Amino acid sequence: MKLIDFSNHQNRHIRKEDVGEAYVSKLKEMVAQDTMYYPSYHIAPPHGLLNDPNGLYQDEQGEYHIFYQWFPLGTVHGLKHWHHLTTKDFIDYKSFGNAITPDTDFDGYGCYSGMALREATRTHIYYTGIRREGGQLLPSIVYATFENGEVRKAGIIEDVDFKRTTENYRDPFVFKRGDDYYMIVGGESPENRGILLVNKGSSPTEFKPMGNLKIMDYPYGYMLECPNYFENDQYGVLIFSPQGIEKRGRYDFQNVFSVVYAVGKPIDFDTQTFEHESFYEMDKGFDFYAPQVFTDNQGRQVLLGWLGNSKCEYPSDKFQWAHMLTLPREVTIEGDRIKQWPIAEVHALRQEEQVLTDVRNLTSKAFELSFEATDGFEIILQNEANERLIFSGNTEEFCLNRGATSHLYNEQYGQQRFAPRLTKENHMIRMFVDYSSVEIFADNGLTVFTSRFYLDGDWKLLSLGTSFNYYRLGSIYIENKKRY
Ligand code: FRU
Repeated sequence: MKLIDFSNHQNRHIRKEDVGEAYVSKLKEMVAQDTMYYPSYHIAPPHGLLNDPNGLYQDEQGEYHIFYQWFPLGTVHGLKHWHHLTTKDFIDYKSFGNAITPDTDFDGYGCYSGMALREATRTHIYYTGIRREGGQLLPSIVYATFENGEVRKAGIIEDVDFKRTTENYRDPFVFKRGDDYYMIVGGESPENRGILLVNKGSSPTEFKPMGNLKIMDYPYGYMLECPNYFENDQYGVLIFSPQGIEKRGRYDFQNVFSVVYAVGKPIDFDTQTFEHESFYEMDKGFDFYAPQVFTDNQGRQVLLGWLGNSKCEYPSDKFQWAHMLTLPREVTIEGDRIKQWPIAEVHALRQEEQVLTDVRNLTSKAFELSFEATDGFEIILQNEANERLIFSGNTEEFCLNRGATSHLYNEQYGQQRFAPRLTKENHMIRMFVDYSSVEIFADNGLTVFTSRFYLDGDWKLLSLGTSFNYYRLGSIYIENKKRY
């Protein structure tokens, strides 16, 4: 069976009905052949491409609901669906497959990103519907509800308004304060600047445009995607993903697109102002984008992100799956910064612990290391061909180097990422490796590197200037409840 040629852009609108069940089975077979890169304890798609996490919330029964952007038929950004999973513990999952299909006249060309707002026992879903009109693809904000495992689409509640934005208008985030609903949407102004549009709602479905959110004046680029916000009495935390932000020095905005956050005062909706004095890049690795944070039943702020990046092909695409979600992380605030830390449930993956300093033939490619950040250290993951992934640090900075791994890609953006070291004293760093991904939590969570890498063959681990605790990690388990 021939694979669809997605270099022909027309083909990105191919639907499952066009190719049939046998094609999907073929994709599944190809994914199953990948014993080198497919993750063991991260959520990855059964086939096709995963990108942003969407619609995260926890229900009264304690079940977490996780949706993600999904194109089932290939490793390109084709027609987007929402894939749905649930879990109580972030170890055992149920997969319900496709939950939102691009099949109406308002979303037939893509069900793009959005979120879930849980109110009493109701779940409101807001997402971006892409439709075709006069040869043009147009976005709007679509409202739906989620009940008894089914999404019911109501229709468009806010259409793109070309006085406010270009066709780059998407990714609604809605929250409730008092009796009012507020919607923040990512956009590009008619003058081609990234903006966040604010709408105010008197009900979950009736919104009025308010203007653009006033944030610190900075050349963020032409488009701000995936806004996310949470607040308490003292502070508000705003997260968004700017496109077109320029590289800054050695440390900031080195990827094609970046994610930033700012901790400030709660948004003043009388003036549409988010007052803040600083903002930071959220992740220092190669592959992190479009994160969403939600508050769970314990009051934790839990983050999931897309462990991937746009505009580049990955060496594992040939196995017909692309990208994964990050580990679930707990977000806390420290001054004007946020800290990210793997949520406590992740401990349950640990299967074996050893304290080691030097070479070892690794029996598993899914493990956690914790080690002391001394004044000069290196952690080296190496294969028999001497190819290696290196994470190092000194008193000034940390560095993740994937320049000597087996398959280089996306090389125009460089193969090393640096971050200033914020915690001068020795502290424990946690590093999670899962076949072809690595997540490193340094500076007690203030500095995170999230990345893919490709290192073939058997692995050894070496350390210089430090020693490490090694924990072999088990797998998450995903039970299929429904097929695509
Ligand atoms: C971010 C993004 C969103 C959009 C979605 C489409 O990665 O571009 O802005 O809604 O992906 O899949």
